[in-house]
Parts: sequence; structure tokens; C-alpha cells
Amino acid sequence: MSGNGRPVVLVGCGRLGSAIVEGWLKTGAVDPAELIILTPSEKPVAERARALGARVNPPLEALADARAVVLSVKPAYWRGAVEPLVSALPEDATIVSVMAGVRTAAIGAALSPRPVVRVMPTTAVASAAGIAAVWSADDAARAVAHTLFAPLAEVVDLDEERHMDVATAVAGSGPAYVHAFTRALAAAGEEAGLDPDSALKLARGAVRSAASADPSETLDALIARVASPGGTTEAGLKALNQNDELDEAVEAAVIAALLRARELSKD
Ligand SMILES: NC(=O)c1ccc[n+]([C@@H]2O[C@H](COP(=O)([O-])OP(=O)(O)OC[C@H]3O[C@@H](n4cnc5c(N)ncnc54)[C@H](OP(=O)(O)O)[C@@H]3O)[C@@H](O)[C@H]2O)c1
Repeated sequence: MSGNGRPVVLVGCGRLGSAIVEGWLKTGAVDPAELIILTPSEKPVAERARALGARVNPPLEALADARAVVLSVKPAYWRGAVEPLVSALPEDATIVSVMAGVRTAAIGAALSPRPVVRVMPTTAVASAAGIAAVWSADDAARAVAHTLFAPLAEVVDLDEERHMDVATAVAGSGPAYVHAFTRALAAAGEEAGLDPDSALKLARGAVRSAASADPSETLDALIARVASPGGTTEAGLKALNQNDELDEAVEAAVIAALLRARELSKD
């Protein structure tokens, strides 16, 4: 996909930044010839992108025509990462922040007058199977975020910026909750007599099967498909959510993550 030759700049090529570049290379959402990567240390995916025509840590003059800048550094040091770039960037460059908890107002103040859009993607963008929440007060900036992320992720547009923290607590942290559940499922299988390797394979396989279920079916329909009345799954489900314990544990996890996101965003 072409951006009329104006480059997209990725600042930070860590876990998420690398996943984004992987996704762009896989889908062609950003032409490597239009990609600039700024990274303090060498990263394998940046080197792959460089071999395809991307520029890695070019002189700052290369940023003069940037159409978008994706900020993928840690919230704790984003100001230090951005400060040297501000005077090099054009005033119409869209600032796309994938940083958890850093408010648009803070980013906008540091990079004024450039429009800002926030995106909260999962690292599954690497395989073009991510989910990404998007918020901006600026429709054109939202459109830029869609161009960069819709090929890599299902994009969910949010109405209010404060919902980005909720999206982070649900979708950003969600994969880790599911891995924790999978670990517990494997441990339970082991406890009931399976060898550790078989227990882990079976638990992971179960989660994989659930994830590949038809997304057009409701979750209740998918549960009913597996849990026949009076059967084994129904017995398991009853034990799993006795006294709403599962619902309450998941709710507590989302609230804890949300409160932490709000603490971290005090800027
Ligand atoms: N990981 C996720 O699943 C995820 C999901 C949603 C949002 N996020 C957000 O994405 C951001 C990055 O998270 P991460 O997990 O990818 O962290 P990470 O792996 O620590 O990556 C951050 C990267 O920033 C680089 N960096 C540091 N200073 C820089 C500078 N001045 N210029 C350019 N790059 C610089 C670091 O380079 P070196 O490696 O060379 O030190 C590092 O690779 C965070 O704000 C986080 O909230 C992450």
C-alpha cells in the first residue's frame, strides 16, 4: 500500500514495535521503501526490513517528509525519545501512539500542532491476526491509524479516550489472562493423572480450538455446542463458575489492570 512516498516512522522496535513491522512486511500495509525505523539497538525484523528497502536510524533530515510517526517506546521514557525528533518532523505528520496509558493531551502538548491518535494493538499484529482499539478526536488521524493497522488487526473504534484503558485491560492484557487459564487447565490435567507434556498439549489445543470457533456465533451458542445438558462439560462449567467465582475473578483482573493503567498515566 503506498503512502505517496511519504515515510512512516516507527520509534521503538521492541516487542510491540517488532510485531508491527512484521505485520507491515507480511501485509504490505507499509511499503518497506517508505519505512523508517528508529531503534537504539539492532533488531532482527528491522534488519529484514532494511534488506527490503527500509531505512534504519537514518539522519534526522529523513524525517522531514514523514506522514506518520508510530511511538512504540515505554511510557516511562517517551518524552526523551520524542524530544530530539520534534524539530525534524513536519507539522502535518500524524502521531500514532501505541503506548499504554499516555494521554493524547500529553502527546499533543509535546508534539503540537500535530494530530494524535492512540492505538492499543496486541502483538498478534505480527501475523495480521491482532485486535486494535483506536481513539482520536481527529477523524483524519483515525483514518491514518486505520490505514496502518486495519490490514494487521480487527480495529475497534472507541468513542471516548478513557475507554482506551478499558480496552488495554481487556484486549491488551487479555492474552496473558488466557495463557494463565491455559496453564491452570494443564496443571489440573496433570493433577488428574496426565503426564506434563500431554497435559500442556491438550490444554493448549483446547484453547486453540476455542479461538478458532466461528466468530459469527454467539459465545452462549458456542458453549451450548460443547456442553450438552447433563453432560461432562456442563458439570465442569458449573464447578468453574460456582457462585460466579470465574466471572468475579475476571472482573477483578480487568479492574486491577484498569486501575494500574490509570496510575501509570498520571503524567
Ligand atoms: N508488548 C505488548 O504486548 C504491548 C501491547 C500494547 C501496547 N504496548 C505498548 O507498546 C510500547 C512498547 O512496549 P514493548 O512491550 O514493545 O516494550 P519494549 O520491548 O521494551 O520496547 C521498547 C523499545 O523502545 C526502544 N527505545 C528506547 N529508547 C528509544 C529511543 N530513544 N528511540 C527509539 N527507540 C527507543 C527500546 O530499544 P532497545 O531494545 O534497544 O533498548 C525497546 O526496543 C509501550 O508503550 C507499551 O505500553 C505494548
